[in-house]
Amino acid sequence: MEGDKDMGEHVIVLTDLTKQYGKFTAVDHICLSIHKGEIFGLLGPNGAGKSTTILMMLGLTEPTAGSVEICGINSTTHPIEVKQKIGYLPEDLGFYDNMSGLDNLVYTALLNGYSKDGAIEKAKELMIRVGLEEQMSKKTGKYSRGMRQRLGLADVLIKNPEIVILDEPTSGIDPAGIQEFIDMIRNLSRLHSLTVLFSSHNLDQVQQACDRVGIFNRGKLMRELDLAEMEKRNEKLLDVYNESIKEGGEPYEHS
Ligand SMILES: Nc1ncnc2c1ncn2[C@@H]1O[C@H](COP(=O)(O)OP(=O)(O)OP(=O)(O)O)[C@@H](O)[C@H]1O
Ligand SMILES: [Mg+2]
Repeated sequence: MEGDKDMGEHVIVLTDLTKQYGKFTAVDHICLSIHKGEIFGLLGPNGAGKSTTILMMLGLTEPTAGSVEICGINSTTHPIEVKQKIGYLPEDLGFYDNMSGLDNLVYTALLNGYSKDGAIEKAKELMIRVGLEEQMSKKTGKYSRGMRQRLGLADVLIKNPEIVILDEPTSGIDPAGIQEFIDMIRNLSRLHSLTVLFSSHNLDQVQQACDRVGIFNRGKLMRELDLAEMEKRNEKLLDVYNESIKEGGEPYEHS
């Protein structure tokens, strides 16, 4: 039900999720449950383990230990079923830059089994939903970073996913574009009970976009926070973030 975010079932359940590369632990025994319709922020500095956690959720990276369940399905044993439920916008989604934005979406829709007419209809509907109605016939090579990310969002919505995972979706967008993008995510989530994972190292953006936040550092989930509860208690996300980083040890040097 709209606005009834706390009541939804858990659509993402991570249990002791761990990834080691040799002796290096990139993700360290993470336990986390995310409700249907929630916007959850993965917040942490470079190398904290956010993207590795996402890749394990998608079934693209195999955990060393622990498990991921997406809508009750194990992502290691059933990666294809899991991938159908998730729209994943990676840090840099490529388009066919000599084609228009609309044609790029039509192409994705055709690959997802839509008829030709159905694909065009779906693509147009999504272009409007992400505010690109004026840019339909423009080649994506001429799109700004903000437009590309909105097109990316439309692209991942084509298969009507239950969950959308956005990895650093706002990097390289100008401030006004970031605000528009965040507003769009919040509206989409509210209107369609869409569960959204928003991964970022930007504290302000996570605070604006999300209902709850997990602070990651050195592969560990240091804190899980409900932003509305924090506001009631007058707690500052920055203070809790700084405490978490102090406890978890200095962030890894970025390679
Ligand atoms: N394939 C790999 N082989 C070895 N080490 C890896 C591999 N992938 C990631 N790592 C390491 O695991 C750690 C976590 O990386 P990850 O990309 O998950 O961090 P992140 O939180 O997404 O950081 P960023 O903000 O830089 O995107 C980093 O130290 C990274 O160098
Ligand atoms: Mg990353």
